[in-house]
Amino acid sequence: MNSVPSKIIYWHDGSECCDKIWEAAYRRFETPLQELKKFQKRLTQLGLSAWDKDLDVVELFCGQGTGLIALEKMGFKSISGVDLSPHLLEQYQGAAKLYVGDCRDLKFDNSRDVLIVQGGLHHLPVLLPTDLEQTLQ
Ligand SMILES: C[S@@+](CC[C@H](N)C(=O)[O-])C[C@H]1O[C@@H](n2cnc3c(N)ncnc32)[C@H](O)[C@@H]1O
Repeated sequence: MNSVPSKIIYWHDGSECCDKIWEAAYRRFETPLQELKKFQKRLTQLGLSAWDKDLDVVELFCGQGTGLIALEKMGFKSISGVDLSPHLLEQYQGAAKLYVGDCRDLKFDNSRDVLIVQGGLHHLPVLLPTDLEQTLQ
C-alpha cells in the first residue's frame, strides 16, 4: 500500500455524517494519531497480526479511514472502505478502495472475506432488527 489518495466510487449520493454536529464531534473527539493507536491496539488484541494478509477486508462506516490505515500498517493488501460521507472519505490518503454508500445497501459484485465495523451501527435509525439485518446481509 502507498499513500496515493484513493479514487472514490459512488454507489449512492453522499451525505454528511448524519448531521454536522456528529461530524464535528468526530473531528474533535480524538486526534487521528490517537484513533490510529486505538485501532491498532484493538486489531492486534483481536489477533489480526496472525491473519493471512491477502484476505479481502472491508471496513464499514470507515469515515476518514483511520481504520483503513491501521489495516495497511498491519500488512493487509486488499482493503476497502465504505461510508456515506464523501467529505470524510476525502480525508483518507492510502491505497484502499473507497465507496460512498449506505452500509445497509452494499453493492459489491463479489464476496469479501472480512467485514469490520469500528463504530457506526449506532447511526442507523432502525437498528434492531431491520438496519442491522440489512447491513450484515
Ligand atoms: C464513528 S464514525 C466512523 C469514524 C471512523 N472510524 C473514522 O476513522 O473516521 C461513523 C461513520 O458512519 C458513517 N455512517 C453513518 N450512517 C451510515 C450509513 N447508513 N452507511 C454508511 N456510513 C454511515 C458516518 O458518515 C461516519 O463516518
